[in-house]
Amino acid sequence: MTLSGKHVLVTAGPTHEPIDPVRYLANRSSGKQGFAIAAALAAQGARVTLIAGPVALPTPPRVTRIDVETALQMAAAVEAALPADAAIMVAAVADWRVEASAQKIKKGAAGPPTLTLVENPDILATLGRSLRRPRLLIGFAAETENVVAHARAKLARKGCDWIVANDVSADPMGGETNRVHIVTNDGVESWDRMAKDDVAERLADRIAVTI
Ligand code: CTP
Ligand code: CA
Repeated sequence: MTLSGKHVLVTAGPTHEPIDPVRYLANRSSGKQGFAIAAALAAQGARVTLIAGPVALPTPPRVTRIDVETALQMAAAVEAALPADAAIMVAAVADWRVEASAQKIKKGAAGPPTLTLVENPDILATLGRSLRRPRLLIGFAAETENVVAHARAKLARKGCDWIVANDVSADPMGGETNRVHIVTNDGVESWDRMAKDDVAERLADRIAVTI
C-alpha cells in the first residue's frame, strides 16, 4: 500500500454548461480514464476524492465521489477538497459557459438564437498558482495535432509538474485505449497504446514513487 496516508484529488469527465433549463453545451469525455486513475490510486491505499462531471460510470471501490455539473461547480469542489498531496486533473472542463436563459428558448420568427459564451476559470492553472498547490500537480491534454508541443506549452502555462498528453484523432475520446506522452520539465516519455486501466495503473505507480 504505497500511497496509504496520502490524499489525492482527481477530476474526471466532461462538464455541462446550461444554455437554458433544458439544453447544455458538453464534450465527448466519458470519464473512463479519470475513473480508472481514481480506482488505481485507491487500490494503492490513497484516500481519493474524485470530482466527477456528468458521466455514466460506477464509483470505484473506496473512492469518495463528488458529482458536479458545470465548470464553476467543479472549481468550487476542487477548492473545498484541498489540501491534497497530489491532484490529477483529468476532466475535460468546458472552456466556455453560456450566458444562460432562465426560460426555455423558443423557436420563432426571430430565427436561431445567438449564444454568448464566457470563458470559464482554468481550474488547473489556478491550483498551479495557489498557496495550497498540491506537491504533485498533473494535467491532461487531449490534442488533435502537435501533441507534445502543445503539452509543453500547457506545462509551463499551468504551472504543473506533468502533462499527460494524448492524440484524440488516434484514440478518440470515449474509447477504451490511450497512447499517452508524459511531458515534464525533464523531457518526454511516450508510452505504447494500452487500455485506459493499464495507463491508470502505470500512472499510479509513478505517482506513488513521486509523492
Ligand atoms: N483545465 C482546467 N480548467 C479549465 C480547462 C482545462 O482545469 N477551465 C485542465 C484540464 O483538466 C486538463 C488541462 O487543464 O488537465 C488541460 O486542458 P486543455 O483543455 O487541454 O487545456 P486548455 O488550456 O483549455 O487549452 P485548449 O485551448 O487546448 O483547450
Ligand atoms: Ca480546453
